[in-house]
Amino acid sequence: MSEHEDDRPDGVREVARRHFLSIGGALGLVAFTGLTTAHALARRPPRTGAELRSEAPLPPPFQVPLPIPPVLRPAGTAGGVDRYEITQRETTAEILPGVRTPLWTYDGTFPGPTIESRRGRPVTVRHRNELPVPTVVHLHGGRTPAASDGYPTDLVLPGGWPAVRSGHHHMGGMRDPRAVETRLTRDYTFPLDQRPTLLWYHDHRMDFTAPAIWRGLAGLHIVRDDAEDALGLPSGPRELPLMIADRAFGADGTLTYPALDPALRERPGVQEPYLAGVLGDVILVNGAPWPVHEVDAVQYRLRVLNASNARHYELEAVTDDGRRLDLVQVGADQGLLAAPVVHTSLPIAPAERYDLVVDFSRVPVGGRVRIVNRLGSGRTRDVMAFRVARKAKDGGRIPRVLSTDLPSWRRSDAVRVRDLSFRAGRMDGGHGWLIDGKPFDPARTDVTTRLGDVEVWRLVADVHHPVHLHLVGFRVLSRGGRPPLPHDAGLKDTVSLRPGEAAEIITRFDGYRGRYLFHCHNAEHEDMGMMANLQIV
Ligand code: C2O
Ligand code: CU
Ligand code: CU
Repeated sequence: MSEHEDDRPDGVREVARRHFLSIGGALGLVAFTGLTTAHALARRPPRTGAELRSEAPLPPPFQVPLPIPPVLRPAGTAGGVDRYEITQRETTAEILPGVRTPLWTYDGTFPGPTIESRRGRPVTVRHRNELPVPTVVHLHGGRTPAASDGYPTDLVLPGGWPAVRSGHHHMGGMRDPRAVETRLTRDYTFPLDQRPTLLWYHDHRMDFTAPAIWRGLAGLHIVRDDAEDALGLPSGPRELPLMIADRAFGADGTLTYPALDPALRERPGVQEPYLAGVLGDVILVNGAPWPVHEVDAVQYRLRVLNASNARHYELEAVTDDGRRLDLVQVGADQGLLAAPVVHTSLPIAPAERYDLVVDFSRVPVGGRVRIVNRLGSGRTRDVMAFRVARKAKDGGRIPRVLSTDLPSWRRSDAVRVRDLSFRAGRMDGGHGWLIDGKPFDPARTDVTTRLGDVEVWRLVADVHHPVHLHLVGFRVLSRGGRPPLPHDAGLKDTVSLRPGEAAEIITRFDGYRGRYLFHCHNAEHEDMGMMANLQIV
């Protein structure tokens, strides 16, 4: 066990060692006996992944203003449906001051434009692919019919690209006879018949999700309803979406990524030192490096998403004189909690979201509040800052009851219990990340469940694995054989398994029948096999 507890090594050495261990089977042992060791291991979670080092000059922290992604205007609203159009295209943007960075974008911006929706009001998005490779759009956290859920082989092919179903070499040479490919455009339909929350859309192409997100294919989608509006939480300019993502920059401003095929056309995967995940040394919030935002001395609602491929954060809000402000959690991945939960620091794994209220009223005017990452070191310790600009009247409040519609499934409701392991292993003669010993195969059905069934899943991990289910939200029942942690509250769609840890989740598979997915949301793990099919019949 001591492998996890010594001083945090640099990422490269750590990966090499983990690789060695996993082949020797030692991590499997950690996972099996992990119930008692999990807590010890979790005290000092090792990084999962290796960090790239930027060559471009980096700005000092808290200089660049925080951008707010533009809210997309619908092309039409006839028939009670909001119709949007997004063109996926290459562009360049000034992320580091004075440097142009080539990006793959949704509609020319990174993050992509934000879509704002009302619960139960359907949305269609026509995506047009003008990028040089096939793409797939997934609305993460969406309760979406399978045909619009962005299955990794349901490609939108660019103009001259040959049909993939017949020819392309996927990892392991697998084909998917059920793939539904379109050329140039595809209409995605999102009924959004779900609890209001912060969703995000991102690329989900087979084998190449991680580098596509890294290049910029990610955006926010907020769902609201009248009940949430009526709570009186901070709103308007006092509600801020914060998409946190790490990246690294080459000397010429390009985003560096250790892809085996830098064109992302044929050969998937990353170079050996990065098999456990790709970390950048620059922390972006809404696409800006270590930004700063001016606030009134009042409460703000922060809608935080970790859109990083592999980096975990443990966030704190720290004043100039070293005080930690409360992070009052009002919502989780899948919407409002029953009641607020107060944190002083908050872990956030890739793809997780937290809906937070932070009160700047007792920070002196002119003072600064830094958002820091306790898991970072050097420059990756800083995330962003708020500068308190002026006193103002606080219109926002936090009601003691936030929602009353959270599902309350009990263990006894479950018609079955499944055990699923998330571990390193061999795949195609190389390193892979496996669920229950198997790498992803679109042609295989891993889990079949009936629409409406309640199930308990026991998930066990070797290293950090943020496990995500498509279609459904779930509740965390236990962690390491103990009650869930404070940040497990509410309805989740991604649960962060810590090294050696087992967790139980409970959910009801309702909404739609069809082929869905569950997978690790460390995007490199996902691309290297750690994904499985969920068939709802
Ligand atoms: Cu965020 Cu399968 O996705
Ligand atoms: Cu998802
Ligand atoms: Cu993983």
